[in-house]
Amino acid sequence: MAKYKIALLPGDGIGKDVMDSARIVLDKLNLDAEYKYGDIGWEFWKNEGDPLPERTIQLLKETDCCLFGAITSKPKEEAEKELIPELRGKGFTYFSPIVRLRQEFNLRTNLRPCKAYPGNPLNYRDDIDLVVFRENTEGLYSGVEFHPVPYELKKMLEKLHPKARKFEKVSTKDIALSCRIFTRQACQDIVRDAFEYARDHGYKSVTVVEKPNVIRETSGLMVREARKIAEDYPGIELWETNVDAMCMWLVKNPQDYGVLVSSNMFGDIISDLSAQLVGGLGFAYSGNIGDDYAVFEPTHGSAPKYGGQYKVNPMAMILSVKLMLDWLGEKEMASALESAVAGVIKEGKVRTYDMGGSNSSIEVAEAVALRL
Ligand code: IPM
Ligand code: MG
Repeated sequence: MAKYKIALLPGDGIGKDVMDSARIVLDKLNLDAEYKYGDIGWEFWKNEGDPLPERTIQLLKETDCCLFGAITSKPKEEAEKELIPELRGKGFTYFSPIVRLRQEFNLRTNLRPCKAYPGNPLNYRDDIDLVVFRENTEGLYSGVEFHPVPYELKKMLEKLHPKARKFEKVSTKDIALSCRIFTRQACQDIVRDAFEYARDHGYKSVTVVEKPNVIRETSGLMVREARKIAEDYPGIELWETNVDAMCMWLVKNPQDYGVLVSSNMFGDIISDLSAQLVGGLGFAYSGNIGDDYAVFEPTHGSAPKYGGQYKVNPMAMILSVKLMLDWLGEKEMASALESAVAGVIKEGKVRTYDMGGSNSSIEVAEAVALRL
C-alpha cells in the first residue's frame, strides 16, 4: 500500500492544465502516493446543481490531503441561468466550492508564501520574501448574509444599536447585510500559526493587518488577541498596520515585511497584492490547512479562455505541491522541488508567455522534473 492517498481535483478551465503539469513533477519525485481524481466545479453545478458533490467530500475524507486546481465562480443570478433547464428554479444556490471545502473541513489557516525567485523578470524586486496568513473560515466569508434583511432582524438591530437607526426608513428589500463574524478562537489560532511559522522559519516580524480604528469590534478583537499572543514570542516583533496603509507599504517597501496575518477578506486582498510583487498569479500558491486535513492550491482562477491550451504558468501549482510535501513532512523532497523551480526560473530558458516565453505548461513542468 502506498504511504499517502492524495486527492486530485483539477476543476475548471486551466485547472486541468496545471494539474497535468503538477503530475509530471509528482511522478518524477516518485512520492509514494496513490492519486485519486475527483469531481469539482462548474460542470457539476450545471448538471447536478452542486459544484462540490457529496462523492467528492467522501473522497477527500478517505485521503490524507488534496491538490486542487481552479474553479469558475459566478454571481448568484448568472449561476442560476447556467443550470440545465430541469434544475432551474428548484432552489439550487451556487456557493463557491473552495470556500465550502475550507469550512466543511475546518481548514482554518490559509498560508500564502510570496517569495521572489531570482531571475524572474516579473519580480517587482528580487529581495521580497513574505508570507501571508489568512484566516480561512470566518469573517466576511462566514456566509451569514441577507437580502432582503428579515424584518425581525432589522427591528432588533435598530433596538440594540443606535447606528442601525439610520436605516429605519429603508425598506427591508432595499438593504443587504453580510455579517463579518470573528471568534476569539479563530483570531488566536491564525495569529499563533503566524508566530509559529515566523519562529520556525527565522522571520523577525509578524504584522497584523486589520482596521481597528474603524471596524472596532472585529478588527479590534484580532489586534487585541495578537498583542497577547505576541508576548509568547519575545524574539519576534509584532507590527500593527491598517489594511489600506498596508497596500501602500507593500508597494513601497515590500522587502521590510516577513509574516503578515489577517482576517479572511483582507487576507484575500493583500495576498493578491503580494503575489503580484513576485510574478503575479502564476506564482501565487497556497495551503488551506486544518488540524488533520489540508488542501493545496494555486490562488489563480480558472481562466476559461485559456483552458486546455496548456499555455499558463504551472509554477503556482508546482509550488503548491512543494507546500504539500512540507506539510506531509517530506522536507527533503520539498526543498529539492523548490531548488528545481528556482533553477528553472534563474536559467530563464523555459518560460510560459507571462514571463515572456513561448513554452507550454507541460514544458515548464518537464524542465522542473529534469532537475529532480
Ligand atoms: C482565493 C480566491 C477565492 C477566495 C475565490 C475563488 C472564492 O480569490 O482563494 O483567494 O476569495 O478565497
Ligand atoms: Mg483571492
